[in-house]
Amino acid sequence: MENILITGGAGFIGSHVLRLFVNTYPDSNIINLDNLTYAGNLLNLTDIENKSNYRFVKADIVDGDQVFSLFEQYGIDTVVHLAAESHVDRSIVNPMAFVHTNVLGTVNLLNAARHFWAGTGKTHRFYHISTDEVYGSLGEEGLFTEETPYDPRSPY
Ligand SMILES: NC(=O)c1ccc[n+]([C@@H]2O[C@H](COP(=O)([O-])OP(=O)(O)OC[C@H]3O[C@@H](n4cnc5c(N)ncnc54)[C@H](O)[C@@H]3O)[C@@H](O)[C@H]2O)c1
Repeated sequence: MENILITGGAGFIGSHVLRLFVNTYPDSNIINLDNLTYAGNLLNLTDIENKSNYRFVKADIVDGDQVFSLFEQYGIDTVVHLAAESHVDRSIVNPMAFVHTNVLGTVNLLNAARHFWAGTGKTHRFYHISTDEVYGSLGEEGLFTEETPYDPRSPY
């Protein structure tokens, strides 16, 4: 049975992704890691909260020990990472919260994935849902691609 970790599953986009996974993959365990900031709300998930393939874990991705424990406890095979500070105006007022969650938190998840997945011989996937803000401003024309260098204009 596959164990899929979704971070930020109580948030705006995360709750829709989580619902889709819980309903689409009844034979997989879906673990929702969220520390319920002002942006997270479990009421977004009342329709799936009692499904047998769903677990909620209140934890902070900035806490590397918690992240490692969770990988170990649930045998995480796949990560879909949406937990973030996500409101650009707040990043200008309080940039450190963004650095902690969006940078340190993401590195903690990547470290845990590398630690538990390296050398297993299995294929694992780590999806990071982020923002086009990391590419800076586009101007009148053009488009960003996955090859575009990062050029952020805000802490977000
Ligand atoms: N909403 C949009 O229109 C949009 C557009 C493009 C990209 N994105 C990106 O998609 C991702 C998800 O966006 P969203 O709109 O669902 O965000 P959101 O702010 O609605 O939800 C973020 C979730 O992450 C949780 N969270 C925050 N910090 C955490 C931490 N330290 N540990 C654990 N959980 C934490 C919050 O409690 C919340 O449930 C973000 O990376 C965002 O930049 C969003």
